[in-house]
Amino acid sequence: MKHVRLGDLEVGRIGLGTMGMSFAYTGAGSDDAESIRTIHRALDLGVTLIDTAEVYGPYTNEELVGRALKDRRDQVVLATKFGMISHTGRRGLDSGPGNVRTAVEGSLRRLGTGHIDLYYQHRVDPGTPIEDTVGALAELVAEGKIRYIGLSEAGPATIRRAHAVHPITALQTEYSLWTRDPEPETLPLLRELGIGLVAYSPLGRGFLTGTISSTEQFGDDDFRKDNPRFTGENFERNLRSAAEVEAVAAEAGATPAQVALAWLLTRGGDVVPIPGTKRVSRLEENTAADTIELTPEQVAKLDGLTPAAGHHHNEAQTRLIGL
Ligand SMILES: NC(=O)c1ccc[n+]([C@@H]2O[C@H](COP(=O)([O-])OP(=O)(O)OC[C@H]3O[C@@H](n4cnc5c(N)ncnc54)[C@H](OP(=O)(O)O)[C@@H]3O)[C@@H](O)[C@H]2O)c1
Repeated sequence: MKHVRLGDLEVGRIGLGTMGMSFAYTGAGSDDAESIRTIHRALDLGVTLIDTAEVYGPYTNEELVGRALKDRRDQVVLATKFGMISHTGRRGLDSGPGNVRTAVEGSLRRLGTGHIDLYYQHRVDPGTPIEDTVGALAELVAEGKIRYIGLSEAGPATIRRAHAVHPITALQTEYSLWTRDPEPETLPLLRELGIGLVAYSPLGRGFLTGTISSTEQFGDDDFRKDNPRFTGENFERNLRSAAEVEAVAAEAGATPAQVALAWLLTRGGDVVPIPGTKRVSRLEENTAADTIELTPEQVAKLDGLTPAAGHHHNEAQTRLIGL
């Protein structure tokens, strides 16, 4: 696996998102043994960046990752997130300094580690100045509890203000063939400031792999059930984008998932996708995207993909991003 830099932090250029092992998608929590094998296989194949969050479960995903890394902690760049759960009695988002301190202790305990390599604010908290949050995080860096600071789905003004308090290492945001929102403003800003971009849902929550042909495949608690891209007419229209990815994949001698990831790797050495899977076979498939070289013609076709129909988040989630 080739290595790249997120700020000063070196990582394998394809990471692993563990959310779906415990949370949000159909089958979550159904086979922890296979999930743990998937994490181990990732490490064997040179993946280093493992991504979880306090809210995944909640808590159970960090516990699972902690179990998986019991004897392999030193092989991993371990990333987790805080701020979607309040431990101080507030409602909703809480990135107040008191909550940051409580949250980090819980994550360290569940992950079975003395330090977190990359600690993200999961969503910007409109009730707490970002300077106060990053100030509390900088104290955790000084104490050795966390090594690097990240933000997730923060808007440009917040990124600048945060970075002025303490260097921000990575912004985690949705970025994929069908979610190109970071390109006009966010990506140039990150490059100006030397911040890496960690691309979440790089497979379009599974859609770009060509394996989702009907929403009947989703269980009742699957988050995609009320995602605008997966509902009604939008879903039908979006099948066209998936077919276009499949056509390029056939030409490249790769799978659609690999093409979706290889395209992200062409965006620059500061863009690190974290595809999510709870299965060894798919992990192997996704990680092999490291070796796929797309031709300029294939990249051009992917650049011109039919834009997705529907927003990438539902209304409630949309209100929380870009703040
Ligand atoms: N910061 C944030 O707010 C935020 C939001 C969402 C996600 N994330 C992070 O980003 C990670 C990845 O995003 P994501 O899980 O939402 O979406 P994703 O990586 O785009 O897609 C994951 C989905 O695709 C399926 N899949 C994976 N590889 C496949 C393959 N080769 N062929 C067919 N299907 C495949 C998975 O199913 P199986 O598991 O059954 O293989 C899962 O349902 C998460 O795990 C999480 O760590 C962060």
